[in-house]
Amino acid sequence: MKPISLTRYLIQEQHAGRINADLRLLIEVVARACKTISIAVGKGALGGVLGDAGTPGAQSMNIQGEAQKKLDVLSNDILLEANAWGGHLAGLASEEMDHSQPIPDAFQRGNYLLLFDPLDGSSNIDVNISVGTIFSVLRCPDGVTQPGDEHFLQPGTAQVAAGYTTYGPSTMLVLTVGHGTHAFTLDREIGSFVMTARDIRIPEETKEFAINMSNQRHWEPPMQRYVGDLLAGKEGPRGKDFNMRWVASMVADVHRILTRGGVFFYPIDAKCRDKGGKLRLMYEANPMSFIVEQAGGAASTGRQRMLEVTPTGLHQRVPVMLGSRKEVEEAVRYHAEHG
Ligand code: AHG
Ligand code: MN
Ligand code: MN
Ligand code: MN
Repeated sequence: MKPISLTRYLIQEQHAGRINADLRLLIEVVARACKTISIAVGKGALGGVLGDAGTPGAQSMNIQGEAQKKLDVLSNDILLEANAWGGHLAGLASEEMDHSQPIPDAFQRGNYLLLFDPLDGSSNIDVNISVGTIFSVLRCPDGVTQPGDEHFLQPGTAQVAAGYTTYGPSTMLVLTVGHGTHAFTLDREIGSFVMTARDIRIPEETKEFAINMSNQRHWEPPMQRYVGDLLAGKEGPRGKDFNMRWVASMVADVHRILTRGGVFFYPIDAKCRDKGGKLRLMYEANPMSFIVEQAGGAASTGRQRMLEVTPTGLHQRVPVMLGSRKEVEEAVRYHAEHG
């Protein structure tokens, strides 16, 4: 059967009453912006998009305390420009913006809030390794026309849609609107995303884990113990050998897990303890957790289901473990017993 386009999938979801026209249009606009980002990423050194933003000695820093890459800023601008005038949003929030932005008075507003990590895996841009874009959609509270940061602070269970685009050998958009997780591959010849995987299911068990091992000495005891047992292999308490992968682009690691199973960790460590972790709840952990749960996986802070965390700040960080359900449950058990 001929694969269907993203547009046709979204119209089917609207006709089935699972999304409305505004949400359909919003997702189409985000997908179109990701196509533009894909073109910019693909130009690499030829497009003048590599390297740090700002001038030597006057690097531009974001609220995270990270030196912004040119592509961080460019991707952010592409998403802001694409979404400002569409009429389906009340406000936007981004990793690269200190505060959220209401849609300007000049434009018509809608009922949704869009949060995004415009370019995930920035440290990989200059070494030509896959990067991505992550987005999350919430409803704007009724009666709020000028949403502030506080209106974005909704738990992950309130998301109406979440997705990411991975700019790899192929550009793929992975999306959930709460009815399964589906993948669309960009057909560059016709310029549209085409469904290449419907109802993705993450294998419940795995022999593959993803973590930045260089932080091992900084982890909390349960994480030390859990990973130590993985590394002990079949002679150890887990009774099987494990493989390890770490791309340092969350989108790439999560996409591999969606595709063949696995478990991803970014635990609290001594370096990021005071900030609550490394990864951001609102536009990294929550959208990825919604996508993973809709594919039959699990996502936790180690002590709580990720989607039930009550947000306290737009750029709040959390410890993250997600992927193959039974392996996440095992890691959570270690935290319960040794936490
Ligand atoms: P971003 O580039 O949007 O700031 O996110 C980077 C994140 C995430 O993509 C990745 O899993 C993690 O940082 C890698 O952290 P380390 O470089 O500490 O391994
Ligand atoms: Mn990121
Ligand atoms: Mn980013
Ligand atoms: Mn960043």
